[in-house]
Amino acid sequence: MSNGAFITVEGSDGAGKTTQLDFIESWLAARRIEVVRTREPGGTEVGEILRNILLNETGLSISNETELLMVFAARQQHLQELILPTLELGKWVLCDRFTDATYAYQGAGRGIEEERIAILEKWVQKDVQPDLTLVLDVDVTIGQRRSESRGSRPDRFEREASDFKLAVRSSYLDRGEKNAKRIRVVDASGSIESVQQSIVRELKDFIRRREPV
Ligand code: TMP
Repeated sequence: MSNGAFITVEGSDGAGKTTQLDFIESWLAARRIEVVRTREPGGTEVGEILRNILLNETGLSISNETELLMVFAARQQHLQELILPTLELGKWVLCDRFTDATYAYQGAGRGIEEERIAILEKWVQKDVQPDLTLVLDVDVTIGQRRSESRGSRPDRFEREASDFKLAVRSSYLDRGEKNAKRIRVVDASGSIESVQQSIVRELKDFIRRREPV
């Protein structure tokens, strides 16, 4: 068995995910942990093309089911081409979003039944699950304000109404409660430094739990 670890980071828009991913990457590197950073949808050539269709305003009409299949198509390629080979080399994979996002966005947001998502999850991932998932949680209004202050063009999901965003957030919190061992919810409403402190606590705890007794 490899010693690689699969870490995913999730969160609502405006939770400060990118800043904290930069921080986690350098925190791990400082501990001489070899880490490959990637993202979903994306991480491979095919995945990035699918990402472009999913996130940008292409003028194409995409049904909810097609959207679901596209995120899993990107994930299949990602696992095969990058995630599994990296873990087999004993390196860590740090992934910006994974299947918890599908339950939150396509499930709670778009209204697709969890059971259908679970079938695809099993088909694509078999038994592969992240070893640790950090959910950066922030109130929807604060998140929206932060996203707006970034000044970048909102993507297809960021343009959704606040009902959609509320559903996404509660799905993450709900999944966090039901999978408390794997999913750690971090309060991301405070300063960057205070969020970093909470993340470090979770990472240290995770590393401690992995060490052989
Ligand atoms: P982000 O990289 O800025 O987080 O953007 C990715 C977007 O894609 C985000 O709005 C969530 C969405 N997404 C899904 O809808 N389903 C998925 O399975 C994944 C991985 C992302």
